[in-house]
Amino acid sequence: MLSCFRQILAQPSIAIDLGTANTRIYASQGENFCEEPTLIRHIRQNQEIQAPDEYLTYINNHLVSSPLRGGVIVDIHNAITLLKPMLRRARTGLRQPVSLACAPTDTTERERKLLTKAVLDAGASQVAIIPEVWAAAVGAGIDVTLPSAQMLIDIGEGVTDMAVIRDGRLVFATATRTACSDLQKAVRTAIISRYKVCLTSAETERLTHELAAENQNNTLADRDIPVRGMDIIRRREVSITVTSREIRNAMNPVLTKILKMIEAGLRKLPKNISCEIVESGICLTGGGSCIRGMDSLIAASTRLDVRVAQDPMHSVINGAIQTLQYWRGKENWWENIAWPSIPS
Ligand SMILES: Nc1ncnc2c1ncn2[C@@H]1O[C@H](COP(=O)(O)OP(=O)(O)OP(=O)(O)O)[C@@H](O)[C@H]1O
Ligand SMILES: [Mg+2]
Repeated sequence: MLSCFRQILAQPSIAIDLGTANTRIYASQGENFCEEPTLIRHIRQNQEIQAPDEYLTYINNHLVSSPLRGGVIVDIHNAITLLKPMLRRARTGLRQPVSLACAPTDTTERERKLLTKAVLDAGASQVAIIPEVWAAAVGAGIDVTLPSAQMLIDIGEGVTDMAVIRDGRLVFATATRTACSDLQKAVRTAIISRYKVCLTSAETERLTHELAAENQNNTLADRDIPVRGMDIIRRREVSITVTSREIRNAMNPVLTKILKMIEAGLRKLPKNISCEIVESGICLTGGGSCIRGMDSLIAASTRLDVRVAQDPMHSVINGAIQTLQYWRGKENWWENIAWPSIPS
């Protein structure tokens, strides 16, 4: 009985990774963990059914979008709509939860204020924000207190974030708002302009996952790949054959941008930190690190050892959970977490 009262009155706490593609929430009470695509459907179900045309139904089904772009909120109203039910499910007692959310290192104060507002309006009582790469490093099992530098790169849907951690501090960070969504957009646009076919999201993802980091110097033989999509002229579903080379060529400029950011970041590091990173290598997290060959591609361009974290898609939320558990015993901890000043 007493423990039941205690649970009702206890202050719950939650960790939030509001990503451009996926939202993950962990709660200290209630339904512990939930993960959902960060997507808002723009055409409601009854309107979809009214569309008699297979083409319109197809397009309606694909009219979904994320309220985030490049890892930051661009549509506050839909971000709140998305978070509200997730926060409600995460809560069991009377009190609203205190929350720890994560943001890319290049966010402006205004962008972090927007994130704070979204989480508060979705039902939290207090919000603290920490850098996403910090959480990713903790979640990837990196000992952030080590006196020698450790480098982590998180390649997500909308942002690629790179950071160096040393002595329990972020000593360097840089980011580009270019990531998996740009690879997929490049493939989609290339296929529409060449074949007038709009690929399904699943097909676009499949091509990206398989080909993005493959054979960048074009030494492998070209191969044919069958794909399905909607012919936007004849307005019906079709199967077409594309070539591996044209898909790779479409994605090349996006990959080059990511690799250039990493190389430029490495060039900015002080010599002693660079030497320490030669020893410790680079740890990759985020969905982009699961792209086949991404680790070897980054290793070849940086000449450093590159490894992918054990659970790269969940490193941020796992690290946020661990950070939350560390802070939870401390009174008013959310008032003491300040966004760090990060050398870039
Ligand atoms: N097995 C896989 N191989 C390659 N890519 C994958 C794989 N699984 C997921 N992805 C890609 O990872 C991306 C999502 O990654 P992630 O969940 O890290 O992004 P996010 O955290 O929502 O975005 P961000 O942190 O940039 O705001 C998607 O584009 C998805 O296609
Ligand atoms: Mg992410």
